[in-house]
Amino acid sequence: MAANRTGPSARERRFVTAVVVIVAAAAMLGAWWSSRPAAAPEARRETASSAAPTPTGQPAVPKGTELDLLALTQTQRDAQNTALKAAGQGLAPPPLPDSRPETLLLRQWVGQAPPRPEKPAAMSEAARLGALIFVDRSLSASGRQSCASCHEASLGFSSPFDDATAPGGSDMMASGTRVPQPLRYAALNPEPQFTVEETPEADGGGLEAAGGFFWDGRASSLQDQAQQPFLAANEMANRNASEVLARLVKTPYYARLQALYGASSMADPDQALASVGQALMQFQLESPSFAPFSSRFDDYLRGSAQLTPAQQRGLMLFNNPAKGNCIACHTSVPSANRPLPLFTDFTYDALGVPRNPQIAANRNPAHFDLGLCDAHPPSAGSVMNGLCGAFKVPSLRNVAVRRHFFHNGRFDNLRTVLEFYVQRDTHPERWYPRDAAGKIQLFDDLPAPYKANVNRTEVPYNRKPGQAPALDAHEIDDLLSFLSTLTDADLTAQAQQNLARQGIRPQ
Ligand code: HEC
Ligand code: HEC
Repeated sequence: MAANRTGPSARERRFVTAVVVIVAAAAMLGAWWSSRPAAAPEARRETASSAAPTPTGQPAVPKGTELDLLALTQTQRDAQNTALKAAGQGLAPPPLPDSRPETLLLRQWVGQAPPRPEKPAAMSEAARLGALIFVDRSLSASGRQSCASCHEASLGFSSPFDDATAPGGSDMMASGTRVPQPLRYAALNPEPQFTVEETPEADGGGLEAAGGFFWDGRASSLQDQAQQPFLAANEMANRNASEVLARLVKTPYYARLQALYGASSMADPDQALASVGQALMQFQLESPSFAPFSSRFDDYLRGSAQLTPAQQRGLMLFNNPAKGNCIACHTSVPSANRPLPLFTDFTYDALGVPRNPQIAANRNPAHFDLGLCDAHPPSAGSVMNGLCGAFKVPSLRNVAVRRHFFHNGRFDNLRTVLEFYVQRDTHPERWYPRDAAGKIQLFDDLPAPYKANVNRTEVPYNRKPGQAPALDAHEIDDLLSFLSTLTDADLTAQAQQNLARQGIRPQ
């Protein structure tokens, strides 16, 4: 869950209770990200504090259990259980197969999630304009590209391309360096924040990052983010804001932009681009198509759908700290402010994903994508160095419609992704090339000084070559079945087709 994990798991536990977290000085961070104080990422680990038996007679959650949950008070538990009974729809929470603490805590929430909204609220004028801009190709230098070209609505606004990266530029001959991120649920990301853990360096202390947009969090808001593709040379490729404005003036909705944002503001190129960013942000915030919460897992949390036995087993493996431990970064348990979890805790981590030779920029052996450090070269001795190679923890919602995985799209099969997680350390020869002397080049997509940043302590990464992987083939099947429950209702046919193409048949 953190970018800089160097200590043992005992350190993780102490982190929860003992670590003093201070917001780093703005001076230190100013050159990096906007240093506005932001809401803490909602899914920090907290300690379940109560060991009292629950009113339903379920076994109590042991003291000190570490989970991505707000600790519940007895009063909260009582209220929830009363609500559960009052729901009175004859929809008893389906049984989960074991009595681990994470299962019990999850069970507490079943039936609590808000229902699917019946009718979407009307969108504001800004959001409606954002919708028009989102699909308008005339705003690109090539005349052939809009936001929607790389964020395909029928795929939950994820990448439609066969290649890992997108084509772009004024002649559409340039190419990107990372997988286009899916936009569904992206608007729910918090703003970026850096915190410094005040622990001794030897105990895993250092910088921790969360929030922000892009794989490296370099945009502090959706408004800021949305302005960048217009000017990126390998995307919509306008040379500057004036060029964007010249294109905007010719659109049929320019008068509406003037009416909303003011004629003088819309005459200034920078302000016009900022307004376009604002409209695109509102569109993503207000349109229900960006956050439908209509997956089977959502319905399961609402108490209106059941999971199959394979899906239940997969959920348990996902949450079990000794097995998948996916929950450590991909938050799967509801909390008070997020009754339907987003499957990310918004932090960054270095997973040591192998280099993808299909990315054009990688033909240069000296080119490395350093994630959090890419836009801001680290300096000697800086605490920032510990973040090099870390990328954003993506939401796993609708992962079954994606065709390329990880920031560099190194894998195009979801089963292979899960195999990588559990075999990276036990069978490194399967993932990394050998040098001339036959030595395995571990973490070959990072320069030598930053290989140490790769997470090697947290389950499932805590194994040595030759040991058994944390999950066997059957368990990976179950996990795939569970991941398929995260597909929104409108994308299930796409997901089925996509998984079938990868040879995956969820049970
Ligand atoms: C040429 C393809 C392309 C186009 C056009 C494009 N994007 Fe993207 N988008 C990407 C890629 C690639 C990333 C990840 C880039 C990175 O991490 O550096 C991304 C990331 C994003 C993110 C960040 C999501 C997150 O979870 O952090 C948002 C939001 C977004 N794009 C919205 C837009 C909007 C709005 C437009 C139109 C103005 C647009 N994109 C145009 C390819 C594209
Ligand atoms: C220590 C934090 C951490 C843990 C534990 C973890 N992940 Fe991830 N996961 C990440 C990060 C960070 C990325 C993105 C890495 C990158 O692109 O370089 C990621 C990416 C992924 C992706 C690719 C999604 C996409 O859109 O590209 C999948 C699938 C995934 N994780 C599933 C899992 C599963 C299943 C587990 C449990 C077996 C798990 N993860 C455990 C942090 C974690």
